[in-house]
Amino acid sequence: MNVEKVLISADEIAAKLEEMGKAITADYQNKDLLIVGVLKGAFIVMADLARQIELPVEFDFMAVSSYGAATQTSGVVRILKDLDQEIAGRHVLIVEDIIDSGLTLNYLLKSLRVRRPESLEVAALLVKEGIERTPLDVKYTGFTIGPDFVIGYGLDYAGKFRNLPYIGVMDQSSL
Ligand code: PRP
Repeated sequence: MNVEKVLISADEIAAKLEEMGKAITADYQNKDLLIVGVLKGAFIVMADLARQIELPVEFDFMAVSSYGAATQTSGVVRILKDLDQEIAGRHVLIVEDIIDSGLTLNYLLKSLRVRRPESLEVAALLVKEGIERTPLDVKYTGFTIGPDFVIGYGLDYAGKFRNLPYIGVMDQSSL
């Protein structure tokens, strides 16, 4: 496996997360913020973004799994690990590494909205463009990217490469 090219460097990611962190800090002044990471991919973005938020945030995590190809049509996502706490009346910010088809996020938003949080927003490092998807309101977006298969910074190929410090594009010929 080779990384064909570096799509977004570690420095560019750091600068973007700083910017996103500043916006979040400004928007949630005097609010009790709970950030929710969607495992596994979001764990690195979550750690680095959170350290750019200058507020006493609380953390929680969810783990979800799609039903493989069926997800493309059904949009059904299985919750493997739910939140540890109630979110009724809380300000909740979901943190994602990537929004691809949008099905995962769409499902998560629906299942969290019924728990009546005070507010529910989304921060995603990457959003793939040019994809037919349910319109999703992503308040904090890092980068909009093309259709390439990307790895690194939390994103995997067959469970590996999440620890690359940059976003890379896979060399498809080496798959
Ligand atoms: C990735 C990513 C999102 C989802 C986005 O997770 O972290 O949760 O895919 O795709 P979608 O917009 O098409 O629904 P993945 O299922 O690869 O699991 P992982 O985070 O454990 O790698």
